Amino acid sequence: MIDSYQRDINYLRVSVTKRCNLNCSYCGAKNEASEELTPAQLEKIVRAFARNGITKVRLTGGEPLVRQDIVEIAQRLAGIDGIKKLAVTTNGIFLKRYAAELKRAGVTAVNISLDTTDREQFRSITGYDGLDKVFEGIDECERAGLSPIRLNAVLTKGKNEDQAESLISIARNRKIDVRFIELMPFSSDGEKDELVVTGEELLKKFPELKPFVKENATDFEKSVARYYTAEGFKGRVGFITPVSNSFCSECNRIRLLSDGKIKPCLGNSEVYDIKAFLDDEERLEQEIKKIILSKPREHSFGCGYGNHHGLNLIGG
Ligand code: 5AD
Repeated sequence: MIDSYQRDINYLRVSVTKRCNLNCSYCGAKNEASEELTPAQLEKIVRAFARNGITKVRLTGGEPLVRQDIVEIAQRLAGIDGIKKLAVTTNGIFLKRYAAELKRAGVTAVNISLDTTDREQFRSITGYDGLDKVFEGIDECERAGLSPIRLNAVLTKGKNEDQAESLISIARNRKIDVRFIELMPFSSDGEKDELVVTGEELLKKFPELKPFVKENATDFEKSVARYYTAEGFKGRVGFITPVSNSFCSECNRIRLLSDGKIKPCLGNSEVYDIKAFLDDEERLEQEIKKIILSKPREHSFGCGYGNHHGLNLIGG
């Protein structure tokens, strides 16, 4: 549906759990128990969203694949009238096991968070020696026919900024999009601006990258990422720049947190609890409409009313 600023809100990100099997420093997730919605509750809420014009859903976390019932969740959401696209964002550790099942359940696209191709650095960033598992998971996604497959990388100064080149080479060699996301201020210790590697800095380092223009991009291909490619590349290189460059006027998304609250804007602490309306579908639909209309014009990281929620609860 159209919100108060003429944006068509058609994309719902659903964090299905706060839990994560990794422990990346910039996220702040802990592997702690948390309140989670059941597959049936998720289905009810997403159905009410679909009646308000949501057509695309992404499952996130925490790590969505730590939920034993993730395939059931995917199946239920994929079956909702009006939901045309279901995607997953994962750290990839469990993808080898789940890629084919998720595909059968109705998932089409997968985003995999990967900040480094160096085994030791992976362990130091995530706290787990799992780089090989992630690459096996990526291979399994290709075999299962999931598409598009995208990698999301967050580069941090003094930590993994040397990884830009080897990550970009994945897009050169495989039909995989590699996207660099600017570090946002979410962890408990609070990131500092000087640690952010901006999209602009990276583009200066890799002048061979040229803007990728796709004519007649369908609604689903519209993205907050700006894409580039170079001669001979099979995939693309994308830049997501929430810090240096806001894209609020084109924002089409809204978020359901793992505890059942709705967050209209990633860069704003406002959330709305709709669990009280779960048994009244009509009311639920009305509440969601009101919440979409309350979506602010733009986000404001660090502008006074900051973010009180960890990214694991929000799901990126
Ligand atoms: N800043 C930017 N991106 C982040 N992600 C997690 N924490 C941060 C942060 N502080 C990314 C993950 C994942 C996506 C959903 O969000 O790497 O790919």
